[in-house]
Amino acid sequence: MKITIVGTGYVGLVSGVCFADMGNDVVCLDVDENKISSLKKGIIPIYEPGLKELLDKNINTQRIRFTTDKKDAYESSEIVFVCVGTPQGSNGDADLSYVFSVAEEVSHFLNTYKVIVNKSTVPVGTAEKVKRIILENNPSANFDVVSNPEFLKEGAAIKDFQNPDRVVIGSDSEKAKKMLKQLYEPVVRTGKPLMFTDIKSSELIKYASNAMLATRISFMNELSHLCEAIGADIKEVAKGVGLDSRIGTRFLQAGIGYGGSCFPKDVRALSHTLEKLNLNSDILRAVDYVNERQKKSILPKLRKTLNSLDKKKIAVWGLSFKPRTDDVREAPALSVIEQLKNEYAEVSAFDPVANDNAKKILKGIKFSDNMYDSLKEADALVILTEWDEFRNPDFEKIKKLMKQHIIIDGRNIYDKKHIEELGFIYKSVGR
Ligand code: UGA
Repeated sequence: MKITIVGTGYVGLVSGVCFADMGNDVVCLDVDENKISSLKKGIIPIYEPGLKELLDKNINTQRIRFTTDKKDAYESSEIVFVCVGTPQGSNGDADLSYVFSVAEEVSHFLNTYKVIVNKSTVPVGTAEKVKRIILENNPSANFDVVSNPEFLKEGAAIKDFQNPDRVVIGSDSEKAKKMLKQLYEPVVRTGKPLMFTDIKSSELIKYASNAMLATRISFMNELSHLCEAIGADIKEVAKGVGLDSRIGTRFLQAGIGYGGSCFPKDVRALSHTLEKLNLNSDILRAVDYVNERQKKSILPKLRKTLNSLDKKKIAVWGLSFKPRTDDVREAPALSVIEQLKNEYAEVSAFDPVANDNAKKILKGIKFSDNMYDSLKEADALVILTEWDEFRNPDFEKIKKLMKQHIIIDGRNIYDKKHIEELGFIYKSVGR
């Protein structure tokens, strides 16, 4: 099928490359000329395992191309995926200006029937607004607007796209449903459901999914404090709770709070949607509140072991909001480092891939190119992202490099007993 992807950010790029790999003809449109000229050469602006290889393969077979030419991009396709950003607006709401400007733009190029698909994360009612904008600009246009939320996790996006738990399509048009059924056939062949629903429910499913996952995390983070107070172990609690098949084990890991470009923004946007309708959003507000509080749970642990943090040398491992991504948007690590700076600690940070992105935001700290370099003369090591390479380091080397043998593990990656036997003072979350 012929597909246009509007917006070559995270969602657009992964979707475009994966659709191309399924045999479709894909054209990706973006207003950023530099980005488009890099993508034409196979240079991708984000770190996502497997994406580069898949992009190269599909550029070579000419199933994917990149352009800034709107007429070419819109007129050559049957299905247009809107994958532009919906950042958090000033009042916590999603800012839909990019989505609406694409709606206005596409209305001028509806030369044949097209399905306009909202893949961007948009509040309930957005598809209706997109339809209205197109009709206002082109009253005789032949099109349908469909909601098709994405459920890609950074770091595992290709796998999530090719092997989804479900594909949700919100549509009131039989013709559009038929086309999307054909398009998604390869990924649901494995028995995964292609779920058709009304447009508003589809839009809400996206927010509800992210908010539910965020709620689980905040719930476990809240319980982690109880575990510390009574001497229980949150990892054991998560395991025991998760073994109940009605609950399941995933997204129950306590830590330093969730981050990224989705959970924080989507929890707040959903909360706003409820409040705008004069409905209560008590749970969502609490989820956000607990998350902000959790980011502040590392410093008290450091103070307990070091007293004052003034001029103390703190090594930080991990800056990205989670492993396998260079994304530092709303990364809890950035917040923790700002708190350390406010108490005049000297921070030496290392992340396997996110150093460069973090350098653009964090000033006044040292960045190391190597995890061990960050430890020289350190008074404490703080682990803020659970990268695999931090899981089994050379502890003897660590001991030799550090001035004091203190580890604060914000992601619970080590076995407490083992680390203490090695001679470290070890504090983690909820244990
Ligand atoms: C999330 C959702 O998982 C995707 O399904 C969704 O498509 C995406 O948002 C989106 O809306 O675009 P992502 O933000 O990439 O994906 O990352 P997650 O793997 O969900 O992790 C989010 C945060 O929660 C991370 O900071 C992670 O460290 C934290 N987390 C996750 C925990 O603290 N504990 C857990 O048990 C799991």
